[in-house]
Amino acid sequence: MTKYFLRALNGETLPRPPFWLMRQAGRYLPEYREIRGGCKNFLDFCYTPDLAVEVTLQPLRRFGMDAAILFSDILVIPDALGQKVEFREGQGPVLEPVRGAADLGRLSVDRLHDHLAPVYETVKRLSREIPAATALIGFAGSPWTVATYMVEGHGSKDYTACRTWAYSDPDGFGRLIQLLVEATSAYLIAQIDHGAEVIQLFDTWAGVLGPSQFEKWVLEPTAAIVRKIKAAHPHVPVIGFPRGAGLLYPTFIERTGVDGVSLDHTVPIDWASRVLQPLCTVQGNLDNMALIAGGDRMEVEIRQILQNLTGGPFIFNLGHGILPQTPPEHVARLSRIIRDWGS
Ligand code: CP3
Repeated sequence: MTKYFLRALNGETLPRPPFWLMRQAGRYLPEYREIRGGCKNFLDFCYTPDLAVEVTLQPLRRFGMDAAILFSDILVIPDALGQKVEFREGQGPVLEPVRGAADLGRLSVDRLHDHLAPVYETVKRLSREIPAATALIGFAGSPWTVATYMVEGHGSKDYTACRTWAYSDPDGFGRLIQLLVEATSAYLIAQIDHGAEVIQLFDTWAGVLGPSQFEKWVLEPTAAIVRKIKAAHPHVPVIGFPRGAGLLYPTFIERTGVDGVSLDHTVPIDWASRVLQPLCTVQGNLDNMALIAGGDRMEVEIRQILQNLTGGPFIFNLGHGILPQTPPEHVARLSRIIRDWGS
């Protein structure tokens, strides 16, 4: 019997949508903070299967999502390529920046699978340990978004170094993107080999690019990764999340060959149902701030999304990840509303 979550990605319209929430494992849960507190280094935490399996399962026990997402981070790829990556308390990720083609010699795919073996072990254990009706999502960052962290060396508002490199030396920057396409495809195919049933590609910073740059650094690399995954595993669905893509969402779906698209909270849901849902399964898009606020307003927002999008293939989710200050009771209320929908 096909899992409920996978049915939505196969294009079925379901009476109540399957749901999961981006960053469903994380600091908003006291049981996560408890485990996280015992581990100084965030990347070591991601590379410890016992802990990664446990925190992946935590939100499922409380809220019964239809899918589990592997606990890891998008920055394990630069780490596995040999770049220095560190997560600092209260500061987020800090990387030794790659600032031009000359720095690319420091990176190599040679140790990729060795380095990421603990992640594959986590996936393998999860595929045995999650409830039988729950689907397992594997993931990676998309090349553009991972490149922004690799080039800037940290999170940023306008991605000046990365965007100017991309304009002034497209061949050199293109080599970085190509390296990420190769590494990311191999990583995702290995996740599927170890039991991942769905893949989500996070392109958190896709929305900072204008159309010509979106074409080169989002559409082409994403299409290449989807092609490589499908060549190895034709039936594993891929969800793309080109956050902030706005009017380029339809082009993204048509050009990349994704099976599902995750919508950020700025996408109007009536437009999504008319324009995007005929093209593929849509996922989204409650504002994560409404989930923090809670109350009747949150409920109204959830019901509007359900009313607009349950007429076609749909997965309920947020428009971006759960934030640490989110009260778990609000997530519990959300999960009850979704579960009761259509009954
Ligand atoms: O969704 C899940 O539950 C699975 C785990 C997951 C994490 N990061 C764990 C994490 C996933 C899917 C990600 C993706 C990720 N990581 C993205 C893309 C999606 C998005 O949210 O935009 C990005 C841009 C990153 C990079 C990253 N990782 C940043 C900027 C930070 C620091 C900000 C913060 O929240 O602290 C992280 C750290 C991180 N990744 C945490 C978690 C639970 C918090 C670290 C901690 O517990 O101390």
